[in-house]
Amino acid sequence: MKELNICIAGLGNVGSSLIESIEKNNDYINRKSSNQINIIGISAKSKKKKRNIEISKYNWFDNPVDMTLLENCDVIVELIGNEKGISYELIESALKNNKHVVTGNKALIANHGNYLFNLAEYNSLALSFEAAVAGGIPIIKTIKNNISFNKIKKISGILNGTTNYILTKMEEDNLSFEDVLQIAKDKGFTSDHEADLDIEGFDAAHKLTILSTLCFGSDLNFKQNYIDGISNIKIEDISFAKNIGYKIKLVSESSIINGEIYNFTSPKLVSFNNPLANVGDALNAINLETDHLDNLFLEGQGAGGKPTTSSVLSDLYEISQNNNFNNLGFKTKDLIKYKKFNLENIINSYYLRIMTDDRSGVLSSITNHFTDSGISVEKILQLPDNSNLNAPIPIIITTHKIQREILNNVINKIEKLSFVKEKITVLPIHDN
Ligand code: HSE
Repeated sequence: MKELNICIAGLGNVGSSLIESIEKNNDYINRKSSNQINIIGISAKSKKKKRNIEISKYNWFDNPVDMTLLENCDVIVELIGNEKGISYELIESALKNNKHVVTGNKALIANHGNYLFNLAEYNSLALSFEAAVAGGIPIIKTIKNNISFNKIKKISGILNGTTNYILTKMEEDNLSFEDVLQIAKDKGFTSDHEADLDIEGFDAAHKLTILSTLCFGSDLNFKQNYIDGISNIKIEDISFAKNIGYKIKLVSESSIINGEIYNFTSPKLVSFNNPLANVGDALNAINLETDHLDNLFLEGQGAGGKPTTSSVLSDLYEISQNNNFNNLGFKTKDLIKYKKFNLENIINSYYLRIMTDDRSGVLSSITNHFTDSGISVEKILQLPDNSNLNAPIPIIITTHKIQREILNNVINKIEKLSFVKEKITVLPIHDN
């Protein structure tokens, strides 16, 4: 039997759950991998914080970087989650001191990964990050190992558990945004510190950046993302969308279009017929289209201590079984610096909510603007509010496919019309 000595930095939800799992399952881990996992060091911001685990059994380090100097340490598990700062210092020091690294830190990888992967490759070390994307779904190893010789055409999916939970509960239980957010925090899907990143779409975009590198061999470049979060989604849009056969989901997608990279995260209308529409609660799901597979759909728990621990454990297993690590599935020297695709050129269909006065001529004036620009309207609905006759009414329009630039020009013109009372809500319709 071999031993794998690990140090864990960060004892939040995932760190604590990892210790619990190792304590509970070490015999099983042993039987399956012929390895015993020893936790030889732990570190966190506060030693006193109340936790489910008994930390006094372990060797405590006030400064996690000191653990990278332990001669018998094989792996540093970084679960602190800072975009740079101490997390970066820890990983860099680990890789310079010949320690493998397992991390769940998507923000750090998406923003600063190129140098760290280079360092890991140079020193023949693992820098593993299954826990960084989609919680417990084994998407990293699926792309890297299982379909490694497939040419991927497109990856799309729901990559953030918290926002999916919020959108699901707003729709199903008619709860307010704030109430559901608090439940998501209580359930450990997000924290005060993470919540803004989740809601504004940044967390999903961090994960998408990593996936696009694995799929297309692009260098890690968070700046290539177009990002829109869910903070402007109104309960009305959720129910209007439902009326016409769609759910609203925060969808992330990546593909190479005409040699340029298109990384896009935005709330989108997803047809009831699309499996993504049925991905509820804090679940995540990812669809891959490749030259060999029309659709490979993976769904599972995308957030929370236990599911994310499952991914950390799978990285530890991989490290215990291998000597060669192809961390990104591409050699770092082969990564390509793609140009960012211009969003104005994207062709899609759209949902629009236009708040207008309820008077004659409004509909025809709006549709004339669409006709003049060659935009084909698919559906149009006028929804008067009988309880308040003076209130603006919503006109809901769905369009056929159109270039975004043309749509933006028409929207600018319509927003200037005197009977249009607020900024028009525009949401893309997901067509896969
Ligand atoms: N806050 C994240 C989410 C957790 O809600 O998906 C894992 O990244």
